[in-house]
Amino acid sequence: MPQYFGKLPTTGASWSTIGAVQGIQRHQQGVDFDCGGSHLAISILAANLIRVRLAPKGEFMPRRSWAVTPDDAEWSVVPFEVKETDAAVEILTEQLRVRVQRNECRVECFDKAGQAIAHDTGMGMAWRTGAIATWKRIEADEHFYGFGERTRLLDKLSEVKTNWTLDALDYDSLTDEMYTCIPFFIALRPNVNYGIFFNTTFWSQFDIGAEEPGVLRMETRGDELDYYIVYGSEPAQILRTYTHLTGRMPLPPKWAIGYHQCRWSYESEDVVRELAAEFRKRRIPCDVIHLDIDYMNGYRVFTWSPKRFSEPAKLVSELAQDGFKTVTIIDPGVKYEPEGDYHVFDAGVAKNYFVRKTDGELFHGYVWPDKAVFPDFLRPEVREWWGDLHRSLTEAGVAGIWNDMNEPAIADRPFGDPGEKIWFPADAPQGSEAERTTHAETHNLYGQSMAQAAYEGMKKLRSNQRSFILTRSGFAGVQRYSSVWMGDNQSLWEYLENSLPMLCNMGLSGVAFVGCDVGGFAGNATAELFARWMQVGMLYPLMRGHSAMTTAQHEPWVFGDRTENICREYINLRYQLLPYFYTLFWEAATTGAPILRPLLYHFPNDTHTYKLYDQVLLGSSLMAAPVYRPGVEYRAVYLPEGTWYDWWTGERYEGSTHILAHAPLEKMPLYVRAGAIIPMQPVMQYVDEHPLEELTLCIFPGNGEFTLYEDDGHTFEYQNGAWATTTYRVSSEGLETIVDIEARQGQWTPSRQTIVQVVGVGEQRFVDDGTSRQLRF
Ligand code: GLC
Repeated sequence: MPQYFGKLPTTGASWSTIGAVQGIQRHQQGVDFDCGGSHLAISILAANLIRVRLAPKGEFMPRRSWAVTPDDAEWSVVPFEVKETDAAVEILTEQLRVRVQRNECRVECFDKAGQAIAHDTGMGMAWRTGAIATWKRIEADEHFYGFGERTRLLDKLSEVKTNWTLDALDYDSLTDEMYTCIPFFIALRPNVNYGIFFNTTFWSQFDIGAEEPGVLRMETRGDELDYYIVYGSEPAQILRTYTHLTGRMPLPPKWAIGYHQCRWSYESEDVVRELAAEFRKRRIPCDVIHLDIDYMNGYRVFTWSPKRFSEPAKLVSELAQDGFKTVTIIDPGVKYEPEGDYHVFDAGVAKNYFVRKTDGELFHGYVWPDKAVFPDFLRPEVREWWGDLHRSLTEAGVAGIWNDMNEPAIADRPFGDPGEKIWFPADAPQGSEAERTTHAETHNLYGQSMAQAAYEGMKKLRSNQRSFILTRSGFAGVQRYSSVWMGDNQSLWEYLENSLPMLCNMGLSGVAFVGCDVGGFAGNATAELFARWMQVGMLYPLMRGHSAMTTAQHEPWVFGDRTENICREYINLRYQLLPYFYTLFWEAATTGAPILRPLLYHFPNDTHTYKLYDQVLLGSSLMAAPVYRPGVEYRAVYLPEGTWYDWWTGERYEGSTHILAHAPLEKMPLYVRAGAIIPMQPVMQYVDEHPLEELTLCIFPGNGEFTLYEDDGHTFEYQNGAWATTTYRVSSEGLETIVDIEARQGQWTPSRQTIVQVVGVGEQRFVDDGTSRQLRF
């Protein structure tokens, strides 16, 4: 059963509401309102970005650097006008009008067309002991997306979403709190799109019309109300601005976009060697092998099991020669071992790096190594120390780190006994000297700051090589450091179905590099479920197969030839699409755009897309309509406005309609927009198997444009200019299809042939010297 569902626990105390505006003060970045003791500040950070803050006692808290990276002062000043009337103060930017009603004080926004955005309603803004909240009107036809990692379908209208990171073991569609929380959402109705980032790391909650239809409540257990309204003419603009606030992902190594194989656990060097050999023998591409907790010596982080992994450097280098990268798991719990000569425990105690209670006692709980203590990752010196500890792994050649159990997941009794989940005491001191606070404020940041330590450590230790970081827990901005997977799902059809809206909502929350365990973590997949999951998994930005201890094996070949062939075909397709995927990662890194997108992302005015959770777009051009139910061979597919092509047959359809797709087990229905330009490469068994000699541009007649991004795929040289972008355009003139290729930009010079293939028409090839050219078909 989900641990908690429904009503907000209340203190019973009554709310104090904000009073009338008594005075205003205009300054360079906005307007301050004196509301009789309380202080409301409206800052204009950009023409589409408004920050609203309310300090009930008049004094704002010092700035926290955790989620929002640029300080307000770092935004360049934008022009705005202030108009005063008896009833209200209006602030006008190029894109928005903010109206602050004087009596009672209420905040309202309007777009250029005068349409309402995030209007205060009811009590407007109010506080009581330990809590502060605001109430907003939900407009007719308004729908809600994002909210970080969430189960259930796409639209969150009528649900309650609590922000408190938790080991959501056995989660299902009624689960509220998850491993990662991101207090950000996007609201959508035809021609009106905006987002709200609730800038609080304390426990917080959105009630999206559940308690009172038509009313959205945002409440936090902090002392101050602080939120950003991000306006956008379309979702892409909202995400661009939101990720300007909270940061964007660094470009991962290209190999991290390949297929990852994981299990709890491949328990010895021999088992890992056999696994790797099997992939190569069967010609199933794979780039990454993950080592789960059993590679360690008694679950002591930063050690290797002397028995089962006695020569890690030898193993990792053999794997590397065969084209595999090795990723190791690291948990935050450090085995409590005062007499054990365990260097991580000893150093952490000597340096006073572990979380303590208010009485100064070390906090301890139970995780895999049983009694364990926990580093305070909120402190920069602790992150640096932890980051450096990764040397024991990088020296053996490890190229990526998988952070788990970092919500943090802790039990109050030895693991294995029935026990309660606990956290650090809410008043446990945490954080740096400058931002010293308590766990109540930093709880939601624990996993993220651990991932930050891993990211920074790996960056330092692996000199010019990009690393892969994966975390289970994160907060707004986690994309700056790590990819995220959706924890312990189950080998059941409903988890396959749920994976698409889950990942889409993560993408709409600024986290593009995400995935679910392909095949399901807990329980045993059937051959049919596994085949369907591989098809869907091929679309996940992070494609990792994983399964739990005591479950049946879940490698692509264990279900017999038919399933193996399906796995191979779809993993092959992913590798063929790598140039497309890599460009999408670059787009995410430079603009904050999701990689896997719900249809509403590109069709925000088409209300048919608002609840459409089981079709997805990979980038802007490829649309999948997967099968996620047993025994299903046909499914309805919605084709939005425009012309579409069947990926497999080239058949052409006019959109704004539903079709019935035939989808036998071997086939995941896949469509391409007219005008799409999809760069593809030959199948490789791993990304750098050999240099790319031929790039094929698959062009679907129509009008369109695509900018391809390329670099060496694994170093940071792209930051010094060693990258290339090439823009391709397709158009038609009468019966002719015209492909224009712009001169290549940047200093990276790929040497290869380009094949331009106009689907259903013909192909031409040329040696790509980076100059502009035009091809006619
Ligand atoms: C947690 C993780 C899972 C991992 C297991 C053992 O359950 O979510 O992915 O395999 O711990 O480390």
